[in-house]
Amino acid sequence: MSCKVIVGAQWGDEGKGKITDILAERADVVVRYQGGSNAGHTVVVKGETFKLHLIPSGILHENVLCLMADGTVIDPECLAGEYNGLRERGISCSNLRISGNAHVIMPYHRLLDGLQEEARGAGSIGTTRRGIGPVYTDKVARMPEPVRMWDLLDADVLRQRVALQLEQKNLLLAALYNHPPMDVKEVVDEVMQYVPVFHDCITDTRTLLYDKLAEEANIVFEGAQGTFLDLDYGTYPFVTSSHPVAGGACLGTGIGPTFIDDVLIVSKAYTTRVGAGVFPTEQDNPIGDLIRERGKEYGTTTGRPRRCGWLDGVALRTAARMNGATGLALTLLDVLNTFETINICVAYRHGGTDYTLVPANDAVMHEAETVYEELPGWQEDICACRTFADLPPLAQAYCRRVAEIAEVPLYLVSLGPGREETIFLNE
Ligand code: GDP
Ligand code: IMO
Ligand code: MG
Repeated sequence: MSCKVIVGAQWGDEGKGKITDILAERADVVVRYQGGSNAGHTVVVKGETFKLHLIPSGILHENVLCLMADGTVIDPECLAGEYNGLRERGISCSNLRISGNAHVIMPYHRLLDGLQEEARGAGSIGTTRRGIGPVYTDKVARMPEPVRMWDLLDADVLRQRVALQLEQKNLLLAALYNHPPMDVKEVVDEVMQYVPVFHDCITDTRTLLYDKLAEEANIVFEGAQGTFLDLDYGTYPFVTSSHPVAGGACLGTGIGPTFIDDVLIVSKAYTTRVGAGVFPTEQDNPIGDLIRERGKEYGTTTGRPRRCGWLDGVALRTAARMNGATGLALTLLDVLNTFETINICVAYRHGGTDYTLVPANDAVMHEAETVYEELPGWQEDICACRTFADLPPLAQAYCRRVAEIAEVPLYLVSLGPGREETIFLNE
């Protein structure tokens, strides 16, 4: 048995979907534990691209049980669209189970996300506008009782919940945003049209998971977003509203930390970020433009160009500690193929001190000067390499240096979007 958590070490889009799909080959269960359709996880199989937002990236393996656990937040329209889209492409989805306790992203959550972003003006977070902040806000507020997946199984219960929610939401819409009220029947009808698609998947995923643990199954927990988008430990307030960090896998599924055997942090060979917020190694210049073009760095969910920069070794080392990492998956190494020299940030210099871990006082990350180590580039195409020894010596040296800075052993290197473009270090 093994329980492995896959976590983004940066600000999301590190290639978690690809890595999850590959590890799912040897897994019995893949579990999404937090977040919702703000995620966009890409899996490429034999040149065919699958973009998953809600459904776990293990879904392409028919024998793997795929769970959307209690900590996720689910948009019925998005879920039905994704489910139907996969079925049209020959993926049965018969292995999908969804927690009845997961909170539902309702049309008013998406509306509020957009209105809140507009109201923030220049200070906007740059959210995905998928209703993530508003739905988690309601979950924490508790009253009136928000809609959970169980409630979609009974239209009368749903109607009652929506009526109570809209009593408050409509006051808010009018008072803060001068927005017309939403109608209970319209909201209920809109949501209910999607329910037949996934109705039979709604169940008690927690007990299912306990049964699988008892059977000594191999379980992969698929994080969404990334360490520095964590509500508590990210670059607050420019974060998401859930807990992507490895600890979130316990909270989001209902298992204790002693069940977790391994934590694989996934990091690009450089750094990207979508949306606003601090980004010390950002290269808003031709270097960043080149990374964006070579890495096709445009958002899977929103299509926005991603901000690009050098690898932030300070953030990576911090992510390793925060997640209790046991292995490092270094992805998109091929994007750096053409660079003559490559920089890694090894310290934040602030007030006469060099910080090699991100300090809790966020002023340092905002104000620090970045201290770079320059490494020579390998300047050749590495996509056909299939073992670590196949890589040019300078590419090997880069990977080793990154692992050394992270203080985590290198577990795999990824050289392209396809399954085969992956080198495992222990094989
Ligand atoms: P996720 O959100 O962490 O799953 O990552 P995304 O899917 O949003 O973004 C990663 C992008 O990089 C996707 O388009 C992947 O197909 C692609 N990708 C993953 N690994 C590699 C790699 O090693 N090299 C290249 N060139 N692309 C990769
Ligand atoms: P995956 O799983 C990259 C970012 C948004 C915004 C902030 C808050 O594909 O790595 P939210 O809609 O969650 O309230 O937005 O978080 N963000 C992501 N950035 N990858 C993601 O997911 C993200 N999910 C949210 O751009 O800055
Ligand atoms: Mg993504």
